[in-house]
Amino acid sequence: MQFYIDSADIEEIKKANQRGWVDGVTTNPSLVAKTGRKHEEVIKDICAEVSGLVSAEVLSLDAEGMVKEGYELAKIADNVVVKIPMSEEGLVAVRRLSSEGIKTNVTLVFNPLQALLVAKAGATLVSPFVGRLDDIATHGTEMISQMTQIFDNYALDTQVLVASIRHPLHILESALVGADIVTVPYKVLQQIVKHPLTDRGIEQFLKDAQKA
Ligand code: G3P
Repeated sequence: MQFYIDSADIEEIKKANQRGWVDGVTTNPSLVAKTGRKHEEVIKDICAEVSGLVSAEVLSLDAEGMVKEGYELAKIADNVVVKIPMSEEGLVAVRRLSSEGIKTNVTLVFNPLQALLVAKAGATLVSPFVGRLDDIATHGTEMISQMTQIFDNYALDTQVLVASIRHPLHILESALVGADIVTVPYKVLQQIVKHPLTDRGIEQFLKDAQKA
């Protein structure tokens, strides 16, 4: 399973990259807005920092506008993936961009049938949001399990990129059901490293070493 970082903060991305946690990056308009920087500059810096795919989201809601923005984003770097929200217009734009060899990531997906339409449109990636389903008392990773089963049934090429991850269990459950990629906030990546027994073991080793 590949690990992407869900961030537009270049310093955070650099730190995660040093730790081998960055097979790719996903951004969204909210994450870019937090940086206070221009979208194009943010994406250019991230693409220069990482070799994996970098998702950059369009703001247009009509297919023509999405395609136009997609062309501009794709020009920034070879590893840019054009991120498009799930909608009929979005699927039209995905078909157009995919037919011209531009990678796409369809986002804000909340059920397996939306994902099936995304795969039929030829998207590179599909981003189901587990955390936002959990936020409304709906089991997000159950959706992932159904999605990976459907994609396996029909050998669909689109990769499942689990997004809106809130805690390590989302990562564990995604791995158990065979998701291709998880995109994880930096603080959650750091949580995976920590375990109280690891800390206690290091402390005890150091104490024993000092006694010797
Ligand atoms: O960037 C896409 C997704 O990971 C955002 O999730 O719910 O934390 O805003 P959320």
